[in-house]
Amino acid sequence: MRCRLAAPLALAALLAALAPRPAAATFHIKSALLRELGGAGAGGTRAARPARSSPTGCPFSGNAAIDNKLDVPESLRDIVKGVDFPGDSGVAPDVPPPWLDRAKFERGQAFARKNFFSLAYAEVLSLIINFLFPGELQPLIFTQRSSTVYSSYKRYLDTVNRVKSWYESDPWKVGSVAYQNMATVRGYHLDASRRLTQLAQTDPQTLKLNTTFGLNGDPAHIWSGPMVERMCEDARAAACPSDYVDAVLKDRDVTTRVHLNQFDMALTQFAFSGLIATYPERFGLHGNLERELDAFCHVWAALGYALGIEDKYNFNLGGLAATRQRTRDVLEHLVRPRLRTVNRDWEHMLRVLFEGLALYVPGSSFDASMLFLMETLGLPAPRLGAQVGRNARLVTSTMTFFMEGVMRVPSVRTWANQELANNLRRANGASARWDDGIRRRSYRYEYLPFPGRYQCS
Ligand code: HEM
Ligand SMILES: *[C@@H]1O[C@H](CO)[C@@H](O)[C@H](O)[C@H]1NC(C)=O
Repeated sequence: MRCRLAAPLALAALLAALAPRPAAATFHIKSALLRELGGAGAGGTRAARPARSSPTGCPFSGNAAIDNKLDVPESLRDIVKGVDFPGDSGVAPDVPPPWLDRAKFERGQAFARKNFFSLAYAEVLSLIINFLFPGELQPLIFTQRSSTVYSSYKRYLDTVNRVKSWYESDPWKVGSVAYQNMATVRGYHLDASRRLTQLAQTDPQTLKLNTTFGLNGDPAHIWSGPMVERMCEDARAAACPSDYVDAVLKDRDVTTRVHLNQFDMALTQFAFSGLIATYPERFGLHGNLERELDAFCHVWAALGYALGIEDKYNFNLGGLAATRQRTRDVLEHLVRPRLRTVNRDWEHMLRVLFEGLALYVPGSSFDASMLFLMETLGLPAPRLGAQVGRNARLVTSTMTFFMEGVMRVPSVRTWANQELANNLRRANGASARWDDGIRRRSYRYEYLPFPGRYQCS
C-alpha cells in the first residue's frame, strides 16, 4: 500500500520542484507589502522549529567581547585555534589514523553510498554557510576555477566524483582511486595555499584585487540584486555584530591570514557532515540512524586526517554526539553573527554554483535553497522570503514536504539516489557540444542594472 503511493507522490513532488523558475525579481517592493508578504514567508515560521533566540539581547555586543575567550563555546575551543596553523599536517598518505576503526569506517562508507542524494544536497546547502567565511570563499575566487557557471559546473562535478571515490575504496591503499584522489586534492590545497601566501608577501594589493569581484568597479558578470540586502536586513534583526567572530577567526584580512588553515579544513568537514548529522530528516533520512550517522562521522574524521587535519582540530573526532554539538555551536556562535556579512562575492559564487548544479540535480534553485536552509536552521527570513517571491517559496515548501515526508518511503529514497547517479553519469560523459552550450548560455542576473550595496554589515 505504501509503495503504491510512492510513485505518484514522488512525481508530484518532482513536478513541483521542476516548476518554472521564479520570474525576474521585483526590485522595488513597497515596504508595507514586503512586511505583509514576510509574515507568510517560508522562513523559520514552522512551529516545530522555532527560532532559537529573540532578536533582543546581544550575547556579544560589538567590541566588548573581543578578548573574552569564554565566548568561544567549549566544543569549538580547540578548533578555532586552528586559524594559526597550515591546513596540511604533512601526514604520510598511506598511514591511516591510529584511531581508525576499519569496520566502522566501512559501515560509514556504505551508508554514504546508499544515501548519496541526501548527503550531496546537505553539502551543497552547507556551502551557503561556508562561503560566509572569507577563508573558504576567497581562495576559490582566487584560483578562478569556479567563478563562472561553466567552470563551477566542472569544478563541482570533479569534487563530487572525487568525494564519491572516498566512499568507494580504501583511501590509504596505494594505487586505489580514493588514494589517488586524496593525493590530487592535497596537491591542489598545497598549491593554492602556497600561491596565496606568496602573493601576500610579494604583492598584497594584487592579492586583494584577485580575491574579490568588486573592489574596484563592478564587472558585468557580477550577479547581484536586492537579495543580499534583504538577507542582511533579516540577519541584522536576528543577531549582533560579528567583531567577536572576526577577532577569534582572524580572517577578515586576506593579506595576513594563514591560508587554508586547520580551522578552514575543519569547517569544510562541517560542510560535509554537520547538517546531515544534525538535521537528518531535513535531507530525507528517517528512522533510527544514530549508528549509521556515527559511522559516517567516523568516515569524515578519518578523511579529514588523511587530508592533513590534526586531531585537536578535527571536527568529527568524538563521533556523532561531538559533531552535533559542534554543528550547533558553529551555527549559533559563528554563522548567525556572520549572516550579515553576505556580499556580492558570496552571492555570485553561489549563483554560479547552483546554476551549474541544476544541470545534473533537477530543481536546484538558489533562492529556494536559501529559504530551505534558513528554515532548517530555524532562522526567520521574512524579508528574504518576500524578495525571492512566491514561486521560490512554493519550491521550498515542496522540498520540505519531499524531504520530511515523501522520502520516508524506501522506494522513493532508492529512486532519488538512482536519479542522481544517472545524472552524474550523464554529466560525466557529456559531449563537447553539450559543454559548449553551457558555456554560451546567458543568465538573467548578468543583466541586473541594480548596483546594490557592496558590503552589508
Ligand atoms: C575537509 C576539507 C576539504 C575537503 C574534503 C576538500 C575537498 C576538495 C576536493 C574534492 C577538491 C577537488 C576539486 C577538483 O577536482 O576540482 C578540492 C579542491 C580544492 N579545494 Fe578543497 N577541500 C577541503 C578543504 C578546503 C578548504 C578549507 C579550502 C579553502 C578555500 C579548499 C580549497 C580548495 C581549492 C582552492 C581547490 C582547487 C580547485 C579550485 O581552485 O577550486 N579546500 N577540495
Ligand atoms: C590576478 O587576476 C588577473 C585577472 O584575472 C590575472 O591576469 C592575474 O594573473 C592574476 N594574478 C595572480 C597573481 O593570480
